[in-house]
Amino acid sequence: MRTDTAEHYNRTAERYDDNWEHTASYVQWMNEQIAECLAVTAGDRVADIGSGTGLFLKGLLPDTDPARPILCLDPSQAMLTQLPDDDRMRPVCASAEDAATGRVDLPYGELDAILMKEAIHHVEDIPATMRGLAGLLAPGGRILVITLPPRLDYPLFDAALERFEARQPEPADIARAMSDAGLSVTESLREFEATVDPDHYRELVGKRWMSVLATFSDAELADGLEEMRRKHSGQAELRYTDRSAFILGRRP
Ligand SMILES: C[S@@+](CC[C@H](N)C(=O)[O-])C[C@H]1O[C@@H](n2cnc3c(N)ncnc32)[C@H](O)[C@@H]1O
Repeated sequence: MRTDTAEHYNRTAERYDDNWEHTASYVQWMNEQIAECLAVTAGDRVADIGSGTGLFLKGLLPDTDPARPILCLDPSQAMLTQLPDDDRMRPVCASAEDAATGRVDLPYGELDAILMKEAIHHVEDIPATMRGLAGLLAPGGRILVITLPPRLDYPLFDAALERFEARQPEPADIARAMSDAGLSVTESLREFEATVDPDHYRELVGKRWMSVLATFSDAELADGLEEMRRKHSGQAELRYTDRSAFILGRRP
């Protein structure tokens, strides 16, 4: 993991879940989408790669047996430390690349389902990593990659939107990498209509809640916040569409 990314998650781990409190309905909606799309059934061997704090695993837990816990892989020990104390989740401090190349020994020989939500943008060589991860799947196994598209509707300052766009992989390229790895792939864009309080949103940005914000200096961030204050002026609430690409690959 890049040093600036590691530092970002070390810094934000403790309040990561709080960053989502303003959109509790989004968290619930997303958990339902994941459960429906990944269609995990009792006994499946599941890994969440880049699991972070496990916030988006809640929809899978009812079908999880403590004898076959969900493997929560993340290279950030600080994020894994925030996992709930639940014997249906087992932390494994490792990256997607570690899993893909066999640098980490997973307790299950094969996996039936892999979730990777908002972590693929941290992977440098997506085609190679996808080939490795596809190789971990049992026949009929699925990988669900959830990622933000490069162009966001978020009420952020312009430089943050532009930098995010420049750094974020295109869903179509991820889908191609999955298909080249031998998976049959379906892609959909799922939308959530978000409403947030402008002051609260600026507070989140001030705390650099997204990793792209960690790439701005204090002075640049202060300018960005001022730009947002001007743009949000007179608005009692901010409304925007939160779009996520769901890319599902299935091993034949
Ligand atoms: C935006 S958070 C997403 C966490 C969780 N999946 C969620 O949606 O709440 C990104 C996570 O990816 C992890 N990460 C960074 N580099 C990674 C890599 N190479 N492989 C797997 N995970 C990585 C970070 O430590 C962080 O926990």
